[in-house]
Amino acid sequence: MNPFELHIPTRLFFGKEKADEFFEQLPTYGSKLLLVIGGGSVRKLGYLDQVKEHLAKKDIELVLFEGIEANPHSETINKAAQIGKSEDVDFVLALGGGSVMDASKAIAGLIHDDLDDIWPYTVGGPKYRQIKGALPVACIPTTAATASEVTAHAVISNPEVKGKSPVSYPFMKPSASWLNPAFHTSLPKTTTRDGASDILSHVFENYLLGGSDSDLADRYSEGVMETVMDTLPKLDLDPENEHLRGQMLWASTMALNGMQIAGREPAPFTLHNLEHALSGQNPDLAHGRGLAILYPAYFRWLLNHDRAVDRMALLAKRLFGISDGSQKENALSFITHFEGWLKQNHLYERLSDQGISPEAFGSVADYAINIYGGGKDELAAAGPLTRENIIEIFEMTEQQKPEAEMA
Ligand code: NZQ
Ligand code: ZN
Repeated sequence: MNPFELHIPTRLFFGKEKADEFFEQLPTYGSKLLLVIGGGSVRKLGYLDQVKEHLAKKDIELVLFEGIEANPHSETINKAAQIGKSEDVDFVLALGGGSVMDASKAIAGLIHDDLDDIWPYTVGGPKYRQIKGALPVACIPTTAATASEVTAHAVISNPEVKGKSPVSYPFMKPSASWLNPAFHTSLPKTTTRDGASDILSHVFENYLLGGSDSDLADRYSEGVMETVMDTLPKLDLDPENEHLRGQMLWASTMALNGMQIAGREPAPFTLHNLEHALSGQNPDLAHGRGLAILYPAYFRWLLNHDRAVDRMALLAKRLFGISDGSQKENALSFITHFEGWLKQNHLYERLSDQGISPEAFGSVADYAINIYGGGKDELAAAGPLTRENIIEIFEMTEQQKPEAEMA
């Protein structure tokens, strides 16, 4: 086992029955809050009214900010923080998906430090790591995807510079989160699939590159993978099933809370770095969709370069019961079986299907390396991943014909 530190300060409430306990907690953060929502789905679905009713019972004054985009824009975050400052709010409540939760953490930091613009504080920016604190944040996630309800991260987009980059501080970890599967039955199929793909990435990344020193991290991660892979097709048939929504929601929270890597070697978040550069290029690209497109090409690239072969072979055994070939054969079996799952769940396609044409591959690779390369001319993926390698991976995705075109 490798040494590790684990800090999970978020008070978690799971289930619609836990509403009272969650809202009971909020007055401990203050008496006036900024309630942050996205483009309006939670208003239309009635979730906002339900939350307002609970807040009214607790005598908490609320200021509403509506309009956080999917892949939240820095400018919108700045505007919300301005309102929070002028209204002198004590804390921030996020009601929405990862974009709303991430925006809320950034807003909480801007208000606390009395800052105007979040973008310079993101990775690669001139003020990276200079935020000193944040107001308390509470979250009600309405997607099963990012685990933002427990993480220290807030991923910010800046379409003006085609950028997407995180801020990340322990003090931005939410103080409390209410996981209510009843708020998930409305999720469209595409958002559900994209979310599932994101959850998988949070357990795949370190599994592949973080070595084999923690048996429990392996088994734990495999448990998350199996739950997601088993639940997604069922949800496709039965999207309003709260039991299944709960399975997916809990898997998402568990996939990025630190336990999934505890005891392994620290390893780069390579797929995330690549995907953030892609969503920066096209802000309409959902994070989980971008990851799904990268998986087959990235896994095959690793195999072709003799990297993480033992780990992919282990996944073949643990996820698909395949162990009779050589390590390389088994690793390939993992990839083909996983591709089958992606196809079955409408997650198998090309970057060009999502509006990123091959002409853009070079500039996306440059962005990934500049922002996430830590001053080197490459990313890391169990060894160097150069600009040419990244472009090669992007080009490989163009072989991934969606089923509609296979007929
Ligand atoms: O904007 P609204 O109207 O709320 O609609 C949203 C949005 O269009 C809709 N939606 C959310 N909940 C719904 C719903 N529609 C119907 N019923 C519901 N219950 O879904 C759309 C997508 O929402 P979004 O929040 O963008 O999705 P997701 O949760 O996947 O968040 C993605 C963002 O999180 C970042 C991503 O990079 C991306 O910016 N990530 C954050 C992480 C973290 N904080 O730790 C880690 C992740 O790896 C990820 O990078
Ligand atoms: Zn992710």
